[in-house]
Amino acid sequence: MGFVIAVDGPAASGKGTIAVKLGALYGFPVLDTGLLYRAVGVKVLESGGDLGDEAAAVAAAKALDPQELERPEVRTRAAGEAASRVAIYTPVRQVLRDFQLAFAAQEPGAVLDGRDIGTVIAPRAPAKLYVTASPEVRAERRWKQLTGQGETVAYEDILADIRIRDERDGARAESPMRPADDAVLLDTTEMSIDAAFDAARRIVEAAR
Ligand code: C5P
Repeated sequence: MGFVIAVDGPAASGKGTIAVKLGALYGFPVLDTGLLYRAVGVKVLESGGDLGDEAAAVAAAKALDPQELERPEVRTRAAGEAASRVAIYTPVRQVLRDFQLAFAAQEPGAVLDGRDIGTVIAPRAPAKLYVTASPEVRAERRWKQLTGQGETVAYEDILADIRIRDERDGARAESPMRPADDAVLLDTTEMSIDAAFDAARRIVEAAR
């Protein structure tokens, strides 16, 4: 396994942007693991299935084609909600885990962002960040992103989504969202993107 950089944290904390920038800096491929769960959720919904049906979610995970991660449908608000519902199923996580392990094994290194990278997928990663921000600031960032891509949605609804997802992701029995014991916490509430990236880069440099 190469130099794995694990970037975990809640929705819209800035972890995705930080992961992409770290990947560009080091020349490492980047995997937004949330897209895997989003694509599974979208697949269930599009096949007319029920997100409460574990077997349907497992079948969708097994049939997932990596090209589906590129579809605009996986970036919608509904996809984020669907993702956190299929993410509670242990067999779904197992299927997606194999894909993530293969990605993390690339030389000379890889960046993965998600909820359980530092704890479950790559517990021996030399560099682990846990990126957070206040729910209000995260809701504002997500609102700007969604309206920027043409979705009509109220800020209050996004804030409610974020609170529900934080609760669901943190409370689930299987691979809950939490910082690894050896992760470095980075609170981006008051930080610009540049400042957050600079702080992240310093954390990774210290681990190299
Ligand atoms: O990061 P993003 O908001 O796209 O993730 C969507 C959902 O997918 C999360 O709310 C979470 O339920 C799930 N997820 C997960 N484990 C990951 C990445 C995402 O359970 N590593």
